[in-house]
Amino acid sequence: MTRLRCVVSVAVALLCGACTADPGPEPAASEQTATDPGAFRPGEVWRDVDGQVINAHAGGILYEDGTYYWYGQYMEGETWAPGANRAWGGTRVDVVGVSCYSSRDLRHWKRAGIVLPAVKDDPSHDLHTSKVVERPKVVRNEKTGKYVMWMHIDSEDYSYARAGVAVSDTPTGPFVYLRSVRPNGHMSRDMTLFKDDDGRAYLFFSSENNATMHVVLLSEDYLEPTSEWKRLFVDRSREAPAVFKHDGRYFIVTSGCTGWAPNPAEYAVAESIMGPWEVEGNPCAGDGCDTTFDAQSTFVLPVADAPGRFIFMADRWRPDDLPDSRYVWLPLRVEGDAVSIEWKDEWRLDSPAGATADR
Ligand code: DGJ
Repeated sequence: MTRLRCVVSVAVALLCGACTADPGPEPAASEQTATDPGAFRPGEVWRDVDGQVINAHAGGILYEDGTYYWYGQYMEGETWAPGANRAWGGTRVDVVGVSCYSSRDLRHWKRAGIVLPAVKDDPSHDLHTSKVVERPKVVRNEKTGKYVMWMHIDSEDYSYARAGVAVSDTPTGPFVYLRSVRPNGHMSRDMTLFKDDDGRAYLFFSSENNATMHVVLLSEDYLEPTSEWKRLFVDRSREAPAVFKHDGRYFIVTSGCTGWAPNPAEYAVAESIMGPWEVEGNPCAGDGCDTTFDAQSTFVLPVADAPGRFIFMADRWRPDDLPDSRYVWLPLRVEGDAVSIEWKDEWRLDSPAGATADR
């Protein structure tokens, strides 16, 4: 079934502003104050409860006992382009670490700090400031009680292409870095984690020089890839995977491979996590759908205690000023096999126009 309802390419503009629900510094001239402090305003500056801009890019969320934990790339400092990456626009900031924020309502976030810091004094370390540490995702292992983080580890020129793993006794760290691997000998770049209802966890990652995605079952402790794996979307060049499950079926949203530049999202559905996966098309609809609303997928969050309600999380990258990249969170609707995401300037989790859609 084709879900391509994308009709016109209109850049989404005039989205600067602040979601200043919480007390904090006076908004800068380019920011706006949200009219509704409980509302999400995709693409606008989003501050934590202490008034500091939330810094958790390409993130993922863990939910536990009424609290959401948001992990992401902490990006600060100068954005620059290493010589080897200039041809494809591969700008970077040096690694600071993985940040974590907590929230009970998904709108107001408290900074927990850098839960996996960069390593400053060992240039050969995977977490050295000169490396690439992207797309951290965390799940809890019920058997060991540990919180397990997987992330994309790379060299400055993205030739190292590995998956890194770290572990913690608490959701807010500190995480202890263990190692990086090439699962079953294969390159691993953009990735995500998915923990199924039966407690098994899977790593999805762009492999084969980004041409083909792989999914691999993790070991019982989630610390190693097993030999059970499959190739997905062969030669379709997909990255930025975000996986979720609804009514017993698996869904994945991905982006194309165009560096920091946005492109159309695509989703696929499967009865079994190892496939076959059926590509359905672009889940985004309306103006901006051909650029995923000027953003790139990172995670699909099931809203706790609300079966069938999901939030699509994406990053609006600013390739020349990466720390000023923004978060685009939008309601994601599923009806049967059909997934849809529409732009909203402002929406509330508890409003009929928000993630509840018309439920
Ligand atoms: C696209 C990926 O999705 C991002 O995580 C990042 O690796 C950029 N490429 C770098 O250009």
